[in-house]
Amino acid sequence: MSKIPFYVGNFFALFVRDGARRARVRGGVNVALYTPRIKVLIKRIYNEKVDSIKFVRQINLNRFVCVVNDKYYVKVFRNITLQRLKEHMELVDMVRPHLDGITIPDVYVDNNIPMYVCEKISGHPISDFDVDTILKNEEKIKKQVADIITKIQRVDLDSIPNNVRFLYGLQPERQPEKPTKGNPKPVLAHFDLNETNLFFDKDMNITGIIDWDTLSIAKNPETDMNVFNLFWGMFKKRITRKK
Ligand SMILES: Nc1ncnc2c1ncn2[C@@H]1O[C@H](COP(=O)(O)OP(=O)(O)OP(=O)(O)O)[C@@H](O)[C@H]1O
Ligand SMILES: [Mg+2]
Repeated sequence: MSKIPFYVGNFFALFVRDGARRARVRGGVNVALYTPRIKVLIKRIYNEKVDSIKFVRQINLNRFVCVVNDKYYVKVFRNITLQRLKEHMELVDMVRPHLDGITIPDVYVDNNIPMYVCEKISGHPISDFDVDTILKNEEKIKKQVADIITKIQRVDLDSIPNNVRFLYGLQPERQPEKPTKGNPKPVLAHFDLNETNLFFDKDMNITGIIDWDTLSIAKNPETDMNVFNLFWGMFKKRITRKK
């Protein structure tokens, strides 16, 4: 069951020319095919009936995200096992005590297929702010990100049994690392600290971070800052061009 719908969705999408529509068709078909399973999961975890399921995003063939009743985010994976997903969430749990005051969503994994659900976190995505406010707060955001990275790196890798399991996150294809100079101590890294995964209060303090699928061990301690700077640079170009 778990793999076939991805191919069904992709098959239908082959007939759609426009890229944005193609992604919606692919995701829409997949959401429809997984709806019965998602209903069971929502009932089990939150004891709620599903009134709406909206497709959010499917970047590639390996995963898609939808939102249920406008408050539960469900992410379904194609290329990983249930065991892998559960182990991964244990790793995320190890970060939580180090990030006091920052929400990391509590994630619940399904009993049968590799998917998880979490509640919508509070706070505003960066898209809620206007360009001037973002630019005015650029240094403040960077400082907070640097601080968060330092805290993630405080997780003691030696305390994790068989920690080589965590050399890659759930999406190994998304784990690029620049070569490291010297031989620094490996650290834990989020690997996808892009601006869309950060949530803010109205004064642009970071209140939450989502999308921990790529959390894993980095050989280069600069990795998270490099990833953030790369995405931030592209984001800044985009928003200043629109201005
Ligand atoms: N717990 C949550 N609370 C609020 N919004 C969420 C939550 N989980 C997901 N979202 C929304 O859904 C979007 C996609 O979720 P997520 O980042 O987990 O998936 P993704 O496919 O890895 O996306 P990307 O590769 O762009 O980071 C997020 O950018 C965010 O807008
Ligand atoms: Mg994301």
